[in-house]
Amino acid sequence: MIQKIMYFCIMDEKAWFASWFDTDYYHLLYKDRDLSEAKSFVGNLCNDLQLPKGSKVLDLACGKGRHSRTLHSLGYQVTGADLSENSISAAQECAEEGLQFIVHDMRDVIPNLTFDAVFNIFTSFGYFDDSAENEKVIRSVHTMLEEQGLFVIDFMNAEKVIRTLEPPKKITKGGIDFHIAKNYNGKHILKEIRFEDKGQSFHYTERVQALKMDDFRKLLTENGFEILRTFGDFDLHPFDVAVSDRLILIAKKR
Ligand SMILES: C[S@@+](CC[C@H](N)C(=O)[O-])C[C@H]1O[C@@H](n2cnc3c(N)ncnc32)[C@H](O)[C@@H]1O
Repeated sequence: MIQKIMYFCIMDEKAWFASWFDTDYYHLLYKDRDLSEAKSFVGNLCNDLQLPKGSKVLDLACGKGRHSRTLHSLGYQVTGADLSENSISAAQECAEEGLQFIVHDMRDVIPNLTFDAVFNIFTSFGYFDDSAENEKVIRSVHTMLEEQGLFVIDFMNAEKVIRTLEPPKKITKGGIDFHIAKNYNGKHILKEIRFEDKGQSFHYTERVQALKMDDFRKLLTENGFEILRTFGDFDLHPFDVAVSDRLILIAKKR
């Protein structure tokens, strides 16, 4: 049998982040990143931020809305926004008074909405080829925030990821063997994901800029933000470049 090979990241005209995150396979592979993880992390963040109940918050790149739902359960008015139509249509099943979801590109300003806080969680940044696009995201967030508004970015600790690149591995989820190999090309962390399903071979590449603390400091401070605090994991231990898994930044609109 001649096997049909589909190299989506090459053939698909869409950027990798517009196609991969919109597939059921992405959600299957990351299904352990679930609501309970979101509840614990968002609970810790909200304790730290001390946002008054009723505050307007944006979950930017919300996926299926696990952090949005948690934020809403804590008493905030939440908008979840994501580029993936499939994720937003799944999220919309949980929409209710004070919890809405929209398809939206994070580089743009959402017309007629402002927020007291914007959350960008679980490495949902650094996807674009041109780093000027990063600035577009930061400036759009700045425009949408009220004065003194807060911006939370949860990113990987790229320096640790690069230093501890794991050998290729196989992860089996939902009966599918995902073959995963991570590499660093000097600018991006690349995660090659190959698998077969229903007689077809698939190959996606996650391509995320290896942004470090200094990159975020520059991006944020040059675009109207002051960094208030940084943390290194979902329990909000201090950031330590040598050991932390995450780089979590809390910034305030100047
Ligand atoms: C790693 S996932 C994280 C999703 C969610 N924050 C979570 O933790 O479940 C990254 C998300 O960014 C979204 N995304 C990618 N590019 C985007 C863009 N340009 N504008 C808005 N969302 C985007 C993807 O569709 C995906 O849902």
